[in-house]
Amino acid sequence: MTSRLLIGRVPVTWAARDQSEAATSFAGPEGAHFKQRSRPVTSVMSRGRRRGESDRPVAMEDLKNLRYLEAVIKEALRLFPSVPFYARTICEDCTIRGFKVPKGVNVLIVPYALHRDPEYFPEPEEFRPQRFFPEATNGRNPYAYIPFSAGLRNCIGQRFALMEEKVVLSTILRNFWIETNQKRDELGLVGELILRPQEGIWIQLKDRRQFLSE
Ligand code: HEM
Repeated sequence: MTSRLLIGRVPVTWAARDQSEAATSFAGPEGAHFKQRSRPVTSVMSRGRRRGESDRPVAMEDLKNLRYLEAVIKEALRLFPSVPFYARTICEDCTIRGFKVPKGVNVLIVPYALHRDPEYFPEPEEFRPQRFFPEATNGRNPYAYIPFSAGLRNCIGQRFALMEEKVVLSTILRNFWIETNQKRDELGLVGELILRPQEGIWIQLKDRRQFLSE
């Protein structure tokens, strides 16, 4: 990587802080809605540690085992891609779904809409982490799900972002149940550079140890 390219990426890396933060805040409450239908889901989400080690900080080894949580994070990024749209300039004449697109045209890619294509995600508004189980993703068009973009200028931080989300969410979920009364249509989503809920997401954290002793 040249130093010019590296310098160019520094502000993007700062912006990435916001992207990860937005993604994490959507994944928790969506997991919570799911949990309302099935309480044990949250304990599955927080699983991944060996018995008797529940208080130690999450380790690299644990992250690989948090497969369900990974599916929850990916499903949240499907419905609420932190970068809801991005632009590209077409470099050569091409045809997309029968439409001729000439070289030089600027196109807007909208993962927020793309991720709701029922051909790839039946009943797209439903939050279903199972869509990201290995058996479900096998054979799916890789461009049907692009929260981190794709191709040469895709996100260089995507692996880090997933790890970061797993660390934050598993740490919260180990200690708290997340609950929310807010409905999805009350979020007041605004698609600026980063997709955000205008009024924030209102959640309640309930100490799990207290809950278990009741
Ligand atoms: C959930 C979290 C994240 C999401 C959804 C995300 C998404 C994206 C997307 C969609 C792009 C392409 C934007 C465009 O082409 O206009 C991008 C680019 C980029 N991301 Fe991320 N990102 C995340 C986290 C991160 C993190 C944690 C880092 C760094 C540690 C990072 C670093 C970058 C960089 C440097 C680019 C520019 C790559 C290039 O232009 O060659 N991102 N990201």
